[in-house]
Amino acid sequence: MRMSVIGCGYLGAVHAAAMASIGHEVVGIDTDQGKIAALAEGRAPFFEPGLDELLASGVESGRLTFSSDIAQARGAQVHFLAVGTPQQADSSAADLRFVHAAMDALLPQLRPGDVVAGKSTVPVGTAAALAAAVAGTGAALVWNPEFLREGWAVHDTLRPDRLVVGAAADEAGARATDVLRDAYADAIAAGSPFLATDLATAELVKGAANAFLATKISFINAMAEIAEASGADVTLLADAIGHDERIGRRFLGAGIGFGGGCLPKDIRAFAARAEELGRGASVGFLREVDAINLRRREHAVRLVVDAFGGNVVGRRITMLGAAFKPHSDDVRDSPALEVATRLRGLGAKVTVTDPEAIPNAKRLHPQLKYKADRDEAIRKAEALVLVTEWDLYRRELDPAHAAALAAGRIIVDGRNCLEPAAWRAAGWTYLGMGRP
Ligand code: UDX
Repeated sequence: MRMSVIGCGYLGAVHAAAMASIGHEVVGIDTDQGKIAALAEGRAPFFEPGLDELLASGVESGRLTFSSDIAQARGAQVHFLAVGTPQQADSSAADLRFVHAAMDALLPQLRPGDVVAGKSTVPVGTAAALAAAVAGTGAALVWNPEFLREGWAVHDTLRPDRLVVGAAADEAGARATDVLRDAYADAIAAGSPFLATDLATAELVKGAANAFLATKISFINAMAEIAEASGADVTLLADAIGHDERIGRRFLGAGIGFGGGCLPKDIRAFAARAEELGRGASVGFLREVDAINLRRREHAVRLVVDAFGGNVVGRRITMLGAAFKPHSDDVRDSPALEVATRLRGLGAKVTVTDPEAIPNAKRLHPQLKYKADRDEAIRKAEALVLVTEWDLYRRELDPAHAAALAAGRIIVDGRNCLEPAAWRAAGWTYLGMGRP
């Protein structure tokens, strides 16, 4: 099938490469010429395991091309819309300007029978508002939200937990849904459930899934706050409640909380849209979810400051991690970097290390000091603060080895991913999040 993918950021680049890898003929389109140039050479403009290989083989096969000219979308049977929907500068609502710009550019290229498949995360009601303009060209609009996780994006795109396609309840909508069923035939044959819905439900599924995940994380972080006040251990608590299959252990990792380019902005946009719909009270808890999440960053800072008797001025503190999570070089709204900049603001001499995210972190926080080599970053540090649970820190850092390099013996485990007994045995003061 011939396809275009409009917007080659995180979502679009992975989607284009994945679709080409299963035999479709795909053109990726983006207004950023630098990004297009890299992609056309088979190189991802960001770190994502497995993506470079997929891009290179797609480009080599001739099935995957990239262009900054929207006219190249003409002739494709499906046009995936994968542009960003960032948070508005002056409110918590989603900024839809890229969606509207992409649609305006795409409309003149559409032919009767084409399908436009929106993948971007949008406020419910957006698709219905766009559908009429698309229908005017004889094409049809469906909404097909994307649930990929950074670090697992290739797997999640090729073998999604579920495929959701929302369409109008008419003949054109049914036909368009069938086109998407064909496009995803491989994943469906491999067992991915395909759910056909109306447009509004498809948009809401994405917002609801993200809201649930964020709530799960903030729930366990709220329990961490209670554990801190009562001497309990939140990791044991999570294990125990997680054995209940109705609850499940995944996403019950207490620590410095969630960040990244999706969860924080998506739950705020979801709440803002609910407010517009007169249902703000229905998701009032999301404000708490956000507040708990931000409190955990502050708590990690407090743990470090208290460990130094209330004053970190001039103290050499090394942050293990910068990315918002491991297997990613993404530092958007990274809890790791927020803890780092706050400690620096309190007068500490902060050094940041990370196996992948330093170039991005430098661009965003040029005032921080960076060391690419883990051991060099640890050398002479008075305290270590683990903020991104890369294996390099979690599994491959021997406490005795770290003790030989560092000047102090304080380790703050912002992700509750270390073995406290092993660190204590090597002479460290171990401080976890919600652990005694
Ligand atoms: C998320 C959703 O998982 C994905 O379905 C959606 O499409 C986009 O948003 P992503 O942002 O890649 O994906 O990251 P995710 O793995 O969900 O982690 C988000 C944040 O939560 C990270 O900062 C992570 O460190 C944190 N987290 C995750 C926790 O603090 N505790 C946990 O138990 C799990």
